Amino acid sequence: MKKYKVGIIGATGAVGQEMIKILGERNFPIEELRLLASARSEGKIVPTPFGDITVHETTDNSFDGLDIVLGAAENDTAVKFAPAIKAAGAVFVDNSSAFRLDENVPLVVPEINPEDALKHNGIIANPNCSTIITLVAINGINRLSKIGSLTASTYQATSGAGANGPKEMFAQTASLLAGEPIDDPKVFQHQIAFNLIPQIGGFGENGYSSEEMKLQNEGRKIMHLPDLKVSCTCVRVPVERSHAISAVVVTEDYLDLDDVRKAIAEAPGAKLFDDGDKKEYPMPIVTSNQDIVYVGRIRRDLVHENGINLWCCGDQVRKGAATNAVQIAELLIK
Ligand code: A2P
Repeated sequence: MKKYKVGIIGATGAVGQEMIKILGERNFPIEELRLLASARSEGKIVPTPFGDITVHETTDNSFDGLDIVLGAAENDTAVKFAPAIKAAGAVFVDNSSAFRLDENVPLVVPEINPEDALKHNGIIANPNCSTIITLVAINGINRLSKIGSLTASTYQATSGAGANGPKEMFAQTASLLAGEPIDDPKVFQHQIAFNLIPQIGGFGENGYSSEEMKLQNEGRKIMHLPDLKVSCTCVRVPVERSHAISAVVVTEDYLDLDDVRKAIAEAPGAKLFDDGDKKEYPMPIVTSNQDIVYVGRIRRDLVHENGINLWCCGDQVRKGAATNAVQIAELLIK
């Protein structure tokens, strides 16, 4: 079997570390794994399933000979190095939001639009974490009847803000439990321990945050539903891992709830977890450290005649970021 030379930019971060683990778990055929980060991490040795690997500072010369580069850093880093990755002849599977809405860049959830990945021009974008989790949950419904609108509220874990997110939450929690004052928040806008923050990203002119608009803009592109209307509120919650989403989808046709449950149970990447009598519904402590999106609390919406109300939850570091990127890379080597 052919083996591939793979690089990871942001290999020391929350998503990059998970990518390393997942490449190993999924037996990705690795000839070389090149770990790249900022100058701060130069020389750091990281244990991986492929042996101990030294991290190097990312420069324009970092990509020679690579087949695939997985991006797990911020937008500015992705934009800075995309030309050098292209010049080196590698395909860039990027987790930042920099290229997601570029019409020359496919935006891919392998369970939904795998065929788009092969139309790339050197870059494939990995969607927003809440978007991936929500779309995997509702894709089965869309196959029954086209979704026209989606109203959602997200409950997003602190690790979505990077490795320093949970650290800030735990430090604040320890201080508050000890009756001590907390340090000024650095990662989040406000204290996150014992609190909820209804802001992820900056606010636009329409009053929605950048994170809230991603569900509509990225959802339209991934599901090939250009007229999809999405209204969303994104909230940071004091949870370590796994985002949860409350969603109402309105379909063209009136759907039978049993058909909806069956479609979700059969949808790739989704798991029906919906038995109120057994207190079975998706929760972060149930869904973390796995790749499946759990879907439950399925019921008829009481506002829209064709509306279905549901609750879904998935590990945003894995399926919402690292696993999805590795799955895209797998599409490239098939
Ligand atoms: P480093 O650890 O050297 O700062 P997280 O999202 O968990 O905060 O991680 C961000 C990742 O992006 C880290 O691996 C970080 O590396 C990396 N990173 C930050 N700035 C750069 C840069 N200018 N070039 C390459 N990687 C960067």
